[in-house]
Amino acid sequence: MEKHHEKAKRGLWSSRFGFIMASAGSAVGLGNIWKFPYITGMHGGGAFVLFFIFCIVVVGIPIMIAEMVIGRHTHKDPVGAFRKLRGGPWVMVGWLGVTAGFVILSYYCVVAGWAVDYLWLALKGTFNSQHTKEVPELFGTLLASDLSQLFWQAVFMGATVWIVLGGVSNGLERANKLMMPVLFLILIALALHGLVSPGGTKALSFLFTPDWQKLDAASMLEAMGHAFFSLSLGMGAMLTYGSYADEGTDIPNVAITVSVMDTCVALLSGIAIFPIVFTYGMAPAAGPGLVFKTLPIIFSQMPGGTFIAILFFLLLVFAALSSSISLLEVVVAYYCDEKKWQRRTATLVMGFLIFLLGVPSALSNHLLANVHFIGERNFLDSIDLLATNYILPLGGVFIAIFTGWVMTTRLARGEIVKGNVKFHYYPVWHFLIKYVCPILVAIVFISRSGLF
Ligand code: PFF
Repeated sequence: MEKHHEKAKRGLWSSRFGFIMASAGSAVGLGNIWKFPYITGMHGGGAFVLFFIFCIVVVGIPIMIAEMVIGRHTHKDPVGAFRKLRGGPWVMVGWLGVTAGFVILSYYCVVAGWAVDYLWLALKGTFNSQHTKEVPELFGTLLASDLSQLFWQAVFMGATVWIVLGGVSNGLERANKLMMPVLFLILIALALHGLVSPGGTKALSFLFTPDWQKLDAASMLEAMGHAFFSLSLGMGAMLTYGSYADEGTDIPNVAITVSVMDTCVALLSGIAIFPIVFTYGMAPAAGPGLVFKTLPIIFSQMPGGTFIAILFFLLLVFAALSSSISLLEVVVAYYCDEKKWQRRTATLVMGFLIFLLGVPSALSNHLLANVHFIGERNFLDSIDLLATNYILPLGGVFIAIFTGWVMTTRLARGEIVKGNVKFHYYPVWHFLIKYVCPILVAIVFISRSGLF
């Protein structure tokens, strides 16, 4: 009773549906709608997509189950969870996660800020035929304005802080239950629109017909790294969300549902975007500017473009917001659980500090454009590289090793099959988490770090 009271005070999802929506909200983000289409375009389509799905199934789902199991077993933030289960150097894995949350959110807010700016432009009716000349310049104009970027970054961070202040069920869960269904509806509408447009068939064959020649080592590594980022794995976000789940929740079922939803959103984004790209004869390999440069040009030429642009950027903002709140929650949970701060203090202070760390990212395209960090990369690209290519896979490999080799079978299995939950595939999961995930993730990590 005492224990239940403590858990409830910390925060619990009010239902399984709420838990699924929140976790799907964390997973579905800029990674699905902004990044997946452009990296798919750059890596040649079909084969890349199939290999990405393979990574989701073999590495992503098992690690998501592992994170949720650790979280639900301890009902703690990432640092507290590893301290409770084992302590010693394992606590560093929790630390790595909290740091990653801090760092990723700092630049995530900058890119999400661009999306808010575009939503505003769309609402003002900028993407229509009267402005066809200005539209190609818009992205450059935004990147050249430090003040605009800081402004939209602050607006987006403000919204993130506001939701997280509301707490687990009143803030995170409520916001996700509202945003996710809207997001799905918009996405399905846009995907249907894509399918019936003249470029639809070409887009489908681009996305789903594999040309294995195009899948080189670099593409495989990109697909695997993206599986981590897209499913919010390797930094304790799913661990933290799992810590708000009640006993008796069927974790494998939730993890599989969330992963399937995340993959579907990525594919549907491709089905929404590529038909438009092909219909208007644009290049699928346009890179990071695909949704901010290529799509707006097309919106401004197509019938009903203003309306489609509003829907599209609303979709992007909702997706980003439901992910950014999970990033902030990881940091806030640490300060609440470990340092006994009030949620209010932790959210406001950390939100502000993360905003400050984001400032150099916001300035990295103009004021600080000539300051290079890793290679020729500016600040934003450098910390993105550091977080996605180093910290997440490193965290992921440690979480897999911890669950497969350090947590006893009795503990892991006992946590999964609580209540009436059955998990017939336990041996398969255990094999994947113990051998396959660490080996595959280690290969990605070492190769991507440029050591060979
Ligand atoms: N999964 C999010 C996306 O695809 O945009 C990004 C993300 C959120 C990564 C939360 C990590 C995380 F903990």
